[in-house]
Amino acid sequence: MPLDRTLAIIKPDAVKNRHVGEILTIIEQNGFRIAAMKLLRIAKPEAEAFYAVHRERPFFPGLVTFMTEGPVIVMVLERVDAITKWRDVMGATNPANAAEGTIRKRFAENIERNCVHGSDAPETAAQEIPFFFSTAELL
Ligand code: RTP
Ligand code: MG
Repeated sequence: MPLDRTLAIIKPDAVKNRHVGEILTIIEQNGFRIAAMKLLRIAKPEAEAFYAVHRERPFFPGLVTFMTEGPVIVMVLERVDAITKWRDVMGATNPANAAEGTIRKRFAENIERNCVHGSDAPETAAQEIPFFFSTAELL
C-alpha cells in the first residue's frame, strides 16, 4: 500500500494547554511517522494565506486571531491513507459532534479553538506541506 502525507498543526490552544505530548502519543499510536516537525508562531499574513479558502466566512477574522495568538506545532505525518486517517483521529470540526476518543472530543475547547488541523484532500496537502516545509526538511 502506498504511503501518503498530510499537514498537521497542533493549534495555539492545545500548545498553551500543554496537550502536545498527549497528541504526539496519539499520532504515534495510530501508526503515523513524523516526517517533519517545528514549533513556530504563525504571522497574520501567513494565517490569512493558509486559511484563504475561508476568507469570506464570518469566522475568518476570529480564526486568524486565534491561529496567531501563540506558538503552534506544524508537522508532516506519513502513513497509508494519512489524510483520511488523520481527519478520523482528529474528529469533527465541532467538538460537540466529535466521536468519543478523538483528539477534538478530548481536548478541543469549542468549534473554533479545536486544537488540531489536518489537510482535507490530497490537493490541499500538496499545497499545505510546502507552505511550512522545504523539500530538504521532509525526512
Ligand atoms: P482545519 O482546516 O483547521 O483542519 O479544520 P476543519 O477542516 O475541520 O474545518 P474548516 O471548515 O476547514 O474550518 C477551519 C477552522 O476554522 C474554524 N472554524 N470556526 N466559528 C465557526 O463556525 C468555525 N467554523 C470553523 C475552526 O478552527 C476550524 O478548524
Ligand atoms: Mg479545513
